[in-house]
Amino acid sequence: MKKTFLAMALLALAGSAPAQTRTAFEPGKTWPDNKGAHLNAHGAGALYDQGRYYLFGEHKVAGPKGNSAQVGVHCYSSKDLYNWQDEGIALAVAPDGSGSEIEKGCILERPKVVFNKKTGKYVMWFHLELKGQGYAAARTAVAVSDKATGPYQYVRSYRPGAGQWPLGFKEEWKQHRPGEKDLKWWTPDWTKAVAEGLFIRRDFQPGQMARDMTVFVDDDGKAYNIHSSEDNLTLHVAELTDDYQGFTGRWNTIAPAGHNEAPALCKKDGKYYLLTSGCTGWAPNAARSFVASSVWGPWKQLDNPATGLQANITYNSQSTYILPVAGKADSFIFMADRWTPKNPIDGGYIWLPLSFEGDQPRLRWADRWDLNAFNQLKDKAPTAQ
Ligand code: GAL
Repeated sequence: MKKTFLAMALLALAGSAPAQTRTAFEPGKTWPDNKGAHLNAHGAGALYDQGRYYLFGEHKVAGPKGNSAQVGVHCYSSKDLYNWQDEGIALAVAPDGSGSEIEKGCILERPKVVFNKKTGKYVMWFHLELKGQGYAAARTAVAVSDKATGPYQYVRSYRPGAGQWPLGFKEEWKQHRPGEKDLKWWTPDWTKAVAEGLFIRRDFQPGQMARDMTVFVDDDGKAYNIHSSEDNLTLHVAELTDDYQGFTGRWNTIAPAGHNEAPALCKKDGKYYLLTSGCTGWAPNAARSFVASSVWGPWKQLDNPATGLQANITYNSQSTYILPVAGKADSFIFMADRWTPKNPIDGGYIWLPLSFEGDQPRLRWADRWDLNAFNQLKDKAPTAQ
């Protein structure tokens, strides 16, 4: 007792008292890292690797400039998910004027890292917009590292599916149709035309657009890049090569003309669940949910997963990832961003337990919660027939 007190007093005197240990999530509140700075990992993804969680997100700076990449991808690590240690910049932007695709000032969003068992490499995918082109480039890019925390080496960017039709794409959908470009948006004819490849044909040669994205590794080791494509109208799911650094050319659409962004995926009891947002930029909207028996679909749209106050704006947030809790079966954390585009560095994090009512994923607000919430959720879950 005495010894501990002495040690703490000495540490405090030396100015290096350990940051208070956190024991719960407090969605929307400032979330200090081990150095006391608010976590700087927006549009994040997380990875569990050898007993530690790693969080990767967009490092934002103050002011509107922070909406483009000034620094790179920030990494943190944690043993318990509440307390995060700053691991520094995992992928740094290239110097201004270097001509690199990831040069300072580009847009680098929603980084997701997966581990490849075959190559022993950590593979980071992200949404990349080339400097000075706004959101026109719509590319997905990859970087690799031998260590989870980095440094990651930039590999290349892609427009996926170049020269490849999606699965089940009919022969008669491959030809341009007269007048199709003049169809009025959101009319039934236009919606049908989108589902029958209006934008897929347009982007067949250069490859399909890829903006908001996530990466999902299935139980069989196959990985998929799921991204908003076709002017954000339709999500695409594209299979990655065995090394996770490229595309096999096998891909499909999800919810044509459904206007979905911010995809986040998980698998439970052999079914795939997808949470998304609508497309209103940095402003929050109502989340959507989908279920499928295969990543290739068909995907069935379910209800808004959120319940209670502010369910219509996902508690003022937008999905970014679904994190399976290690060692706790069927326990998933919904991770979302509360964007503050005027001062992006202030952006908040909304992490909530994801529960299931039958097939319907559910979110409930909690001011404060911990991982024991999953035990309670299970107690309440209806028992299998
Ligand atoms: C959001 C998207 C963010 C960012 C933003 C830019 O819809 O989810 O990742 O791209 O638009 O306005």
